This record gives sequence, structure tokens and C-alpha cells, in this order.
Amino acid sequence: MRTKIVAGNWKMNNDKQETKVLIEQLQDSIENLSLENTRVLVAPTFVNLSSAVALANNSKIEVVAQNMHQAANGAFTGEISAAMLKSVGVHSVILGHSERRTFFGETDALLAEKVDTTLANNMEAIFCFGELLEDRKSGNHFNVVESQLKNGLFHLEAAAWKQIVLAYEPVWAIGTGETASPEQAQEMHAFIRKIIKDHYNQEVADAVSILYGGSVKPSNAEEIFSKADVDGGLIGGAALNATDFSAIIKAI
Ligand code: 13P
Repeated sequence: MRTKIVAGNWKMNNDKQETKVLIEQLQDSIENLSLENTRVLVAPTFVNLSSAVALANNSKIEVVAQNMHQAANGAFTGEISAAMLKSVGVHSVILGHSERRTFFGETDALLAEKVDTTLANNMEAIFCFGELLEDRKSGNHFNVVESQLKNGLFHLEAAAWKQIVLAYEPVWAIGTGETASPEQAQEMHAFIRKIIKDHYNQEVADAVSILYGGSVKPSNAEEIFSKADVDGGLIGGAALNATDFSAIIKAI
């Protein structure tokens, strides 16, 4: 059975105190849930990772990072390495978010390097991808997604996919309030699983968790999560509120 995952990407929100409050509130609201086969992740900003890990210790919440540099160390002002993340107890990182691709120029080739660094460090990569509105309108969305996956991940050996989580985030649905319909999400997730099967095999395709991201809210989470190939969500705005985020966790 595939692992279900609900992950909150906090983006550039929450200072140290707000991080503390949100993690404590979230802990309170999910404490009594039986989260069988389900992981709950939160991704605070770099400066709060260390304190978030301490707060989430012995809880149902795992702390992950939003980004990471591909090099081991060196003259890369402002960047964070895999070893630094591991040294504060973070073993999973979001890579390739559309905001990193759009605002910080991250390319497929760069992301392939970051994925390699992640795996070489025995960490997990939560690999994001998804098409722009113009791609969807022109019917090019399957091609775009296929090329993002091929260029970013298909150089990996099958065994490495144990450390990969996929997050399909159509750019037109991020922070817009406009969600892909459950049918659109399912259609794309099934397509993703098919191209993984074609390139690798059925086992790899069946094992990888594929999350949907883009305006997931308490009101639409259950329907989206009910789809066969949707294994959870990567949540932005609604993850900043403990009540909403825990409602989304309950929906899974
Ligand atoms: P929203 O849930 O705010 O649309 O953001 C989705 C996202 O980008 C998660 O990484």
C-alpha cells in the first residue's frame, strides 16, 4: 500500500514564535488521530527548521525543508547544504517548486543535480512539477509534465525511487483559489504513473506517492484525495492555519 502524505509548504511565512504556535496547535488537533500509513509534514523556512524539529520531536509531525543547494559546501553565499539540513534533523526536502523554477530560475538540469545530492545524502526528495496555464490551454500539459519528470528524475535507477515523493502542482492552481478538478488531478496522476511504469516497471509506478498541490482546502480535500492515484496533498495557504490543515489531514 502506498504511503499517504499531507505536507504543508509554509513558503516565506511564520517567524520563530509563529512557527512554535502553529506546530503546537497542529499537534493538539491531530494528537488523537490514528494516522495509519499516513505522514504529516511541515516545511518551515530555513531559520526555523532547528526549533521546529525540537518542537515536533515525539509527535506525528515531520519537519522538512523547502529547498537545498546541490553542492556539498563552498562559496555559495546564502545557500544551505544537505549536510546542514541533516545536522538539524531534517531528512527530506522539497525540490523544484514552481516558485523556485519561476522566481529563482531553477531548471530541470539543476533540479536533476539537486535530486542526486539529496539521494547521495540518504535524504528524501519531494519533487514538484506542473504545467503553466498556457500549457493547459494549448493542450500541452502532458508533454510539459513528462519532460519535467524525464529531465529531473528519469536518470535515476529504479531503487532510488524509494527516496522520491512526487508533487504535481499545476501552476495555474497555486495560490489562485482555482483548483484542478478531482478528475483533472486523477487524469494527470494516472498519466504520471503510466510514464513511470513505461520507463521503469509497474512496481516502481505503484510504489511512488504522488501528491496533488494547488489550492487544496478543507472544502475540496476529501474529493481530491478520494481519487485512486492521488496519495495526498502539498498544501500552501491552507497549511498556515492549524484548523484548516488538520481538517485536510482528517480528509485523508
Ligand atoms: P496553495 O495551496 O496556496 O495553492 O499552494 C500550493 C503550493 O504551492 C504548495 O507547495
